[in-house]
Amino acid sequence: MGSLVNYIYILSGALFILSLKWMNTPATARRGVFAGEAGMLLAIAGTLVNHHHNWEWILAAFFIGTAVGIPIAYIMPMTAVPQRTAMSHACGALAAALVGTAEFYQRQPNAETELHGFVMVALIIETLLGFLTFTGSLMAMGKLQEVLPTRPITYRNQNLINGVLFAIALGLGVRLYLVPTDTFLFPIFAGLALLFGVLLIIPIGGADMPTVIALLNSYAGLSACAMGFALDNPLLVIAGALDGSSGLILSIIMCKAMNRSFTNVLFGAFGQLQVAHGKTEQRPVRSASAEEAASILEAAGSVIIVPGYGLAVAQAQHKIRELFDTLTRRGVDVKFAIHPVAGRMPGHMNVLLAEADIPYDRLFEMDDINSEFAQCDVALVIGANDVTNPAARTDKSSPIYGMPILDVDKAHTVMVIKRSMSPGFAGIDNDLYYMDRTLMLFGDAKAFVSEILKELPARVGA
Ligand code: TAP
Repeated sequence: MGSLVNYIYILSGALFILSLKWMNTPATARRGVFAGEAGMLLAIAGTLVNHHHNWEWILAAFFIGTAVGIPIAYIMPMTAVPQRTAMSHACGALAAALVGTAEFYQRQPNAETELHGFVMVALIIETLLGFLTFTGSLMAMGKLQEVLPTRPITYRNQNLINGVLFAIALGLGVRLYLVPTDTFLFPIFAGLALLFGVLLIIPIGGADMPTVIALLNSYAGLSACAMGFALDNPLLVIAGALDGSSGLILSIIMCKAMNRSFTNVLFGAFGQLQVAHGKTEQRPVRSASAEEAASILEAAGSVIIVPGYGLAVAQAQHKIRELFDTLTRRGVDVKFAIHPVAGRMPGHMNVLLAEADIPYDRLFEMDDINSEFAQCDVALVIGANDVTNPAARTDKSSPIYGMPILDVDKAHTVMVIKRSMSPGFAGIDNDLYYMDRTLMLFGDAKAFVSEILKELPARVGA
C-alpha cells in the first residue's frame, strides 16, 4: 500500500508542475486547470488511502466544503476574483496553522522525542506563517471588497512597531523550540502572529492588494511546505514549495510591471493623496459620438484594441468580440494589446477575452506589440488608463514613472472609451486624453461598444 501511495503522490506532484507550466499561456491554460484539479484529486485520494481515518468527519467536511465552494464559484463575478483568491489563501493558511497547533499539543506527552530539532522548526514556521497569512488575507479580502477602508492606514513608527512585534513573535518561537513544553507561550505566539497579519496589511492601499495577495499566496505555500516536513508528507512539501515559489515569482513580475519595489508595495502606503485635484477639469479634450467612432473604425486598415480594468467592470468582453468579428469581416486587421498588469489581477484581460472566445493568436503581449502602434491606424482603448499613460515615460515626478506602458500615443488616431475623466488605479491624470489625435468616447464600455456596433453595417463589404 505504501508504495502505491508514493506512486500516486509522484503522479500528483508531476500534475501540479505541468499545471503551472500549462497555465503560462492562454492556449494551454484550460489544460493547466484540469491538470491541477486532477493532481489535487489524486493527492486527496492518496492521503485517504494512506491513513486510517474517522470517515464521518471527513465526509462532513467534504459536504460542507462542497456546499460552500460551488455556490461561491458560480455567484462570484469576475471582478471579485482577487478577493475570492484572498479568501482561499485565508482558508488554506488557517488549515495549515490549525494542523500545526494540533500537532504541537498532540505531541506534548512525547515532547522530548517528537517535538525537537527540525520538526519543531517546521511546526513553528508553519504556525507563524499560517496564522499571519490567515488574518493578512482576510484584511486583503476586506479591502478589495471595500468592507474595510481601502486607503492605507498609517501612523508614526508603524514599520518599527511591526518589526518589534514580529521579532517578539519570532523570539517566542525560538523559546518554544528550546522548551517545547512551555505550552502557555503558544497562544501568545499564535496571537502575535494573527495580530502581525492585520498590522502588516493595514498600511497598504486597496489597489496594491493583488500584489500583496500573490505574496500571501507565497506565505501560505511556505506554511504548507513546512507542514509537509512536520508531518513527513512529501506531497505537501512539493505542493507547498510550488505554491510558495510561484506566488513569489508572480509578485515579483507584478512589481516589475508596475515599476515598484517590494518594499514600496509593502511599506510605501501607495494610493494616498495622489490625485491631482482640479487638474483634470482645466484642459480641453476632444470627444466623439459612437457614429463618428464607427466611421473611423470602418475606414481603418489596422486597429489595436487595448483593454483595461473598465472592460472587466463593464463586462464588455462579448460586445468586444462582436466588434472584433464585424471589423475582421470588413477586412480590418484587429489585434489586442495586453499589458501585464492591466486590470486588477494577473491575466485578468486574458481570462475575460478567452471567455468571449477571442482567438489567442490575436492577443499580443506588450513587448511584442509596442513597436506596431506607430504604424496602426487606430488604437482603441477600452477601460484602460494607467497602462497607457505616457507620463510613465516622460514625467519623473509621476508615481508611475518608469512603469513600462503600451505605446498607444504613437498610433495615428487614439480613441478612448471610459465614462468620465476620472483617474485609474494610480489616481493620476492621463496626458493621452489631451493629445490632438485622441478622441474621448464617454460612456460605459459595454454600452458604447454596442452603440458603435449599431452604427457599423454588419454585412461583409457593406
Ligand atoms: P486603471 O488605470 O485602473 O483604469 C481603469 C479605467 O477604467 C478607469 O480610469 C475608469 O475610468 C475606467 N472604467 C471603469 N469602469 C468603466 C466602465 N464601466 N466602462 C468604461 N470604462 C470604465 O486600469 P488599467 O489601465 O487596466 O491599469 C491597471 C492598474 O491597476 C495599473 O495601475 C496597475 O499597476 C494596477 N494594478 C494591477 C494589478 C494587476 S496584476 N493587474 C495589480 C495591482 C495593481 P472612468 O471611471 O472614467 O470610467
